[in-house]
Amino acid sequence: MTTRPAAVVVLAAGEGTRMRSSIPKVLHELAGRSLVGHAVAAAQELKPDHLSVVIGHGRDLVAAHLDEVAPAASTVVQEEQLGTGHAVGVALEQLPELDGVVVVTYGDVPLLTGETLHALMDAHVTQGNAVTVLTAKVADPTGYGRIVRGADGEVHAIVEHKDASDDVRAITEINSGIYAFDAAVLRSGLSRLTTDNSQGELYLTDVLAFARDDGGRTGAFVTDDPWQTEGVNDRVQLAAMTRELNRRLLRRWMREGVTMIDPESTWIDVTVTLDRDVVLRPGVQLRGSTRIAAGAEVGPDSTLYDTIVGSGASVVRSHASGAEIGPDAVVGPFTYLRPGAVLEARAKAGAFVEIKASTVGTGAKVPHLSYVGDATIGEGANVGAGTIVANYDGLGKYHTKVGRHSFIGSDSVLVAPVDIADGSYVAAGSTVTAGTEPGELAVARSRQRNIAGWVEHRRAGTATAAAAEAAQQRAADEPGGQHEHSGHDKHDDLANGDPA
Ligand code: UD1
Ligand code: MG
Repeated sequence: MTTRPAAVVVLAAGEGTRMRSSIPKVLHELAGRSLVGHAVAAAQELKPDHLSVVIGHGRDLVAAHLDEVAPAASTVVQEEQLGTGHAVGVALEQLPELDGVVVVTYGDVPLLTGETLHALMDAHVTQGNAVTVLTAKVADPTGYGRIVRGADGEVHAIVEHKDASDDVRAITEINSGIYAFDAAVLRSGLSRLTTDNSQGELYLTDVLAFARDDGGRTGAFVTDDPWQTEGVNDRVQLAAMTRELNRRLLRRWMREGVTMIDPESTWIDVTVTLDRDVVLRPGVQLRGSTRIAAGAEVGPDSTLYDTIVGSGASVVRSHASGAEIGPDAVVGPFTYLRPGAVLEARAKAGAFVEIKASTVGTGAKVPHLSYVGDATIGEGANVGAGTIVANYDGLGKYHTKVGRHSFIGSDSVLVAPVDIADGSYVAAGSTVTAGTEPGELAVARSRQRNIAGWVEHRRAGTATAAAAEAAQQRAADEPGGQHEHSGHDKHDDLANGDPA
């Protein structure tokens, strides 16, 4: 059915004392979204004409947060928390005269889905109700308002736990606090509320009694999923709800074709998207806007924030944030990709490599122990083990370019800004401060000098000296005499990066 509510009012003014937190309760997060963010997301699925969030405690923080995550929602401040009825009244004062249905939900009930709200709306309309309550049957109803049904099956009253007799307390059908109201019935009922109850509050639940007094039908939609009615009051509940939400998300992705080796240790935010045949190994956390394309494998033990992973790529034991990992690229183990790190197709970032704001071109490799910052590494280039791009001089950051199919020898420092041309080499151990032309080899280190007899003179009597003497003796005894001195001047050996 397509009935849209005139308004959804989300109640989020309460303090949440039991969280024992310096931030408002509804800003605590699960699965990458705040409690109130979950409430607003579910509400928005109803496409209401108005979406109003009642705030109170921590109002500045909550309002700023909602501006960011749900700019379409308006906030209204309830100065004092005088009860749920008062809260809804404050919201209605700020809205134009409404015609149709008003849905009320809570800002601290994160598992409630838009689907359930739709079902509540449908029940409300098809039953022709003035008020429809979302209820659930629970094992332990302590603390909740109880649903008192008449012989006709209608909801005759909602009685708060504190106001209930033992007979009523024995009822296990509870009020979730989520409702669909006829707008006129709601407005009229709110104007008649009193504080004549054990808590001295204006109870929203009493609107139901006034609706009945006026001859309205009052019904319920019973959900068979009590999790969707459960609020978060402390951090133990927050953890339990987080685990349950995660379990639901994982189940949905597995049904969509994602393999998970260990769902118990896999955590996914609601904002993540996964394609078919993605494989997630144990210990994976996918957060924020992370997107993983078909056939890519992530894990074990990897955390990706706001990271795009291309099809067939592999990420092992790594941490990435704001990175883009191209198709069939290979990352890890122990790689740190920071914002702006882009690996193009088949590129590699290996062990103990940190990359920031840099592009590693198609098939290019940074296989071992490197820092690459503010750089463009061309297609097919090889950055040898231990290479450092010195992008920062203490004042500014500068760009480095390594050309296509170039080769940076191991343990080099590229002092930015520097431009290593396409098809050129840098000798191992160089500190490069000037660029190269295509085809050149840059050697930027002092030439090796071997001092014959040094050990014999300066380390006489040591085991080293004895070893040298023995080796010299063996060489002299060999037919053909002493070996030729190994060529330390062979430039082929200068750029000995490991192209693994
Ligand atoms: C309320 C219902 C109860 C139901 C329960 C479900 C009433 C009188 N009782 O209980 O039947 O079983 O919810 O959880 O409505 N809030 C405000 N302003 C206020 C008071 C509350 O914004 O002045 C918000 C709170 O932040 C919270 C929600 O409303 O998100 C519910 O308030 P809470 O005090 O937890 O509900 P109860 O009164 O215990
Ligand atoms: Mg209360």
